[in-house]
Amino acid sequence: MNSKKYNMWLQYQPVTDSKVKEQYQLLLDQVCVIGDGIQLQAAKEELLVAVPQMLDKKFNVSNDPYNSRFVIGNKIKLAQHLDESKQAKLADKNEEAFLLSSDEKQLIITGNSDVAVLYGVHHLLRLMQLHADITQLDIVEQPKNQFRMLNQWDNFDGSIERGYSGRSIFYQNNQFAEDKTRIKDYARFLSSVGINAISINNVNVWEEETYFITKKYLPEIQEIASIFRTYGIKLYLSINFASPVTLGDLDTADPLDQNVQNWWKEKTKEIYEYIPDFGGFVVKADSENRPGPFTYNRDHADGSNMLAEALEPFQGKVIWRCFVYNHLQDWRDRSTDRARAAYDHFKPLDGRFHENVILQVKNGPMDFQVREPVSPLIGAMPNTNQMIEFQVAQEYTGQQIDLCYLIPQWKEVLAFDTHIKGEGTTIEEIVAGNIHHNKYSGVAAVSNIGDDENWTGNTLAQANLYGYGRLTWNPALTSEEIAKEWIRQTFGTNQEVLDTIEDMLLNAWEIYENYTAPLGVGWMVTPGVHYGPNIDGYEYSKWGTYHFADRDGIGVDRTKETGTGYTEQYQEPHQSIYNDLDKVPDELLLFFHHVPYKYTLKSGKTVIQHIYDTHYKGYEQVEGLIEQWNGLSNDIDRERFENVKNRLERQLENAKEWRDQINTYFYRKSGIPDQHGRTIY
Ligand code: GCU
Repeated sequence: MNSKKYNMWLQYQPVTDSKVKEQYQLLLDQVCVIGDGIQLQAAKEELLVAVPQMLDKKFNVSNDPYNSRFVIGNKIKLAQHLDESKQAKLADKNEEAFLLSSDEKQLIITGNSDVAVLYGVHHLLRLMQLHADITQLDIVEQPKNQFRMLNQWDNFDGSIERGYSGRSIFYQNNQFAEDKTRIKDYARFLSSVGINAISINNVNVWEEETYFITKKYLPEIQEIASIFRTYGIKLYLSINFASPVTLGDLDTADPLDQNVQNWWKEKTKEIYEYIPDFGGFVVKADSENRPGPFTYNRDHADGSNMLAEALEPFQGKVIWRCFVYNHLQDWRDRSTDRARAAYDHFKPLDGRFHENVILQVKNGPMDFQVREPVSPLIGAMPNTNQMIEFQVAQEYTGQQIDLCYLIPQWKEVLAFDTHIKGEGTTIEEIVAGNIHHNKYSGVAAVSNIGDDENWTGNTLAQANLYGYGRLTWNPALTSEEIAKEWIRQTFGTNQEVLDTIEDMLLNAWEIYENYTAPLGVGWMVTPGVHYGPNIDGYEYSKWGTYHFADRDGIGVDRTKETGTGYTEQYQEPHQSIYNDLDKVPDELLLFFHHVPYKYTLKSGKTVIQHIYDTHYKGYEQVEGLIEQWNGLSNDIDRERFENVKNRLERQLENAKEWRDQINTYFYRKSGIPDQHGRTIY
């Protein structure tokens, strides 16, 4: 497959600007590759794909650095070609740091490791796709985050939990995909934006997937691991905490039982015989019917430490998810609150986790809603490794039918100043490891790809995968910069295309929020499916609704005085801000407070009028998106144009349904008419 939609942002379109082309042709006559590491070979291969295509000329590989203008290799291999100042630039940087240095006569890409050189080569190709000057480069970059991970939620039968882009590229009908081309290409795409870790099976590990850690499947997994290794990506597996029982070896999975501990040690040893650089285990335990240490009256430190001990001799890690809550709770019982759960479970365990356990915490306290406050658990455990978890898959944000560019949302989360160690303790610095200085930290996210030819269902959803990688590498990039980079590489240099798509992307999150759940209340989606409105739809049980709307008001009281006390999980000043009706930001009002419909927001509108207005507006904005997109019909290839057009039309239907159901529901509940007298269906 080599179509435009398949190639995502690695289009490598011919450079048409003659001046730019001339410059590139001059420097990139051939490449001298010094060294033979696998990642360096991957870098070379990428150049051999990209350069001839972009420059419309032959491009050779040489091993003579003295007669080559373009030289690549790690800093050790290239030592004699690097003067002191270049060496110094890399000296205090991490293993993944690269250097791009050029003048009119020579271009050098080097780095602290082979994979760093691969990142450097991708940086060059990005610059070239953006038609940048490459004759005066003096760029040193290293990733800000140590872990830049993706979690596949792929099942062995080929389905993908919360997958919106077809079936799995890894598995088909309980077999590993025979043709691994797509896995390799996926690895290329991921390495081009700096992803360095991947777990390849769903966090919900069903019966057959439990066998992934056995001889039955390890030979196949070994093969996949080696594909990812070539691109500097470490492979992890999600495991079933009850594996010793499920696999029929023991009758308990109690983490304090010696036999269980030995079982995991043996098992882990076996895995490393197949995959010597195996990353480790991702674990969802005691959550949504998954087994875990609670069954044996043990806590999550006991559970994760047991696995950590097994992995420790091999430098493996346990990535333990904090998405733990009682999904069967009676929602009317205000002594429990799902938002509190992660913090309540894990905060008391701070300091008890082994050095190779990393807790993975969802960005918000609930579940990837269109708007949530930032999870108060992130940064609240100074003696524990933590990573934040985002969701690139648009589960609650339009399912890759509706447009929702998520980078602005993630940026807001990263910018949140927790004040955990005083002012400046932002999530960005916490997950980069700069606040608590624990051994490991970083970012993980649920992937959004499948075997649709364009990988992401909606072509514009490719921007979220691209942006996730770019942002975790360099959180200082703005949403605009990332959008611009992505659009130019994906759709070329047409200014109209650039401006239009950029505008569409940057407004998309707000638009989606406008016609869906208002003011931070969340949910209101069809249970199970999580797409389309169902205002009283309650996911797991018959008790109550998420939003507590009655004829007088709406919202969830999470204050300390009269509510669940969730606000107390935050440091000051957030605790007071969120707790205080006068101070809480409008967009989170209903997450923290229950208020009458006529309560006046800081915007000056009443809650009910805000609901009406945003829902009318959201629908109109989607009409606007369609108009914008249609304006590009002559500037974008048919396939990609039609793909997005079709999704936008479905988005409009969805927005209409949301608008009508929400407005009708709250009109009937409150009995308060729309000030502007618009028809409520
Ligand atoms: C959400 C999602 C589930 C998923 C869970 C998780 O609740 O709907 O499909 O398993 O998150 O993160 O574990």
